[in-house]
Amino acid sequence: LRGQTAEEVISKYVEKEESPPDEECPICFEKLCNVSHYNEDEEEGDSVLKLERCRHFFHQSCLYAMYNSGPKDGSIQCPTCKAIYGVKCGNQPPGSMDYHVIPHSLPGFPSCGTIRIIYNIPPGTQGPEHPSPGRRYSSRGFPRMCYLPDNEISRKILRLLIIAWERRLIFTIGTSVTTGEPNTVVWNEIHHKTEFGSNVTGHGFPDPNYFTNILGELASQGVTEDCLDDY
Ligand code: APR
Ligand code: ZN
Repeated sequence: LRGQTAEEVISKYVEKEESPPDEECPICFEKLCNVSHYNEDEEEGDSVLKLERCRHFFHQSCLYAMYNSGPKDGSIQCPTCKAIYGVKCGNQPPGSMDYHVIPHSLPGFPSCGTIRIIYNIPPGTQGPEHPSPGRRYSSRGFPRMCYLPDNEISRKILRLLIIAWERRLIFTIGTSVTTGEPNTVVWNEIHHKTEFGSNVTGHGFPDPNYFTNILGELASQGVTEDCLDDY
């Protein structure tokens, strides 16, 4: 899927709209009937495209620009409603994900052991899909250890996390909210429990909503139970 142009990818998910509504394009905020500033072709007006499932409208050149500023993985996500077309991937840098069961219980789960996930990402040089291509990125606090009770729901979550890892969605490169350091490896919107025996940081157990929350976070990255059939 990599190597396809924006035009090839987007054409799969849109219909051309001949009579668009009198609204602004949510990407450039210019009226749909006017030309987007992403349109470099002075002569030609902008086509308006409608995403086929969610039916949101955009300038064609805005959708192309959005695709070209992302991971270019053959997928797009509607900027208005977050509907995903194709398989969404991220720009997580190279590293490893391992997991095993340890014979200790987490708070609130006295009758089962614990799944420990270990992520390791070394520092490196940013690629074209990263915010500052060619610059170095740092990596702090690795290996990062994460915990789930070894029960049925968590075993499903683990399988979804493995898919998220393969799609490069667990980490990204950016500025750490915690340390303020730029160009470093940071968590990417899928919350993990990194505290083992207590919950001082808010990243531990007990947390009664955790399973629902992480399943929702995985789903907003396009990783749902449906994906498990393919694996
Ligand atoms: N454990 C798990 N998640 C965390 C932690 C933590 N200790 N600290 C922050 N997060 C969550 C935040 O709630 C936010 O949603 O990660 C997201 C990104 O926050 P950043 O501070 O930008 O992330 P990062 O710099 O990667 O991590 C901060 O997490 O695992 C630890 O060692 C790591 O101390 C570092 C901390
Ligand atoms: Zn939409």
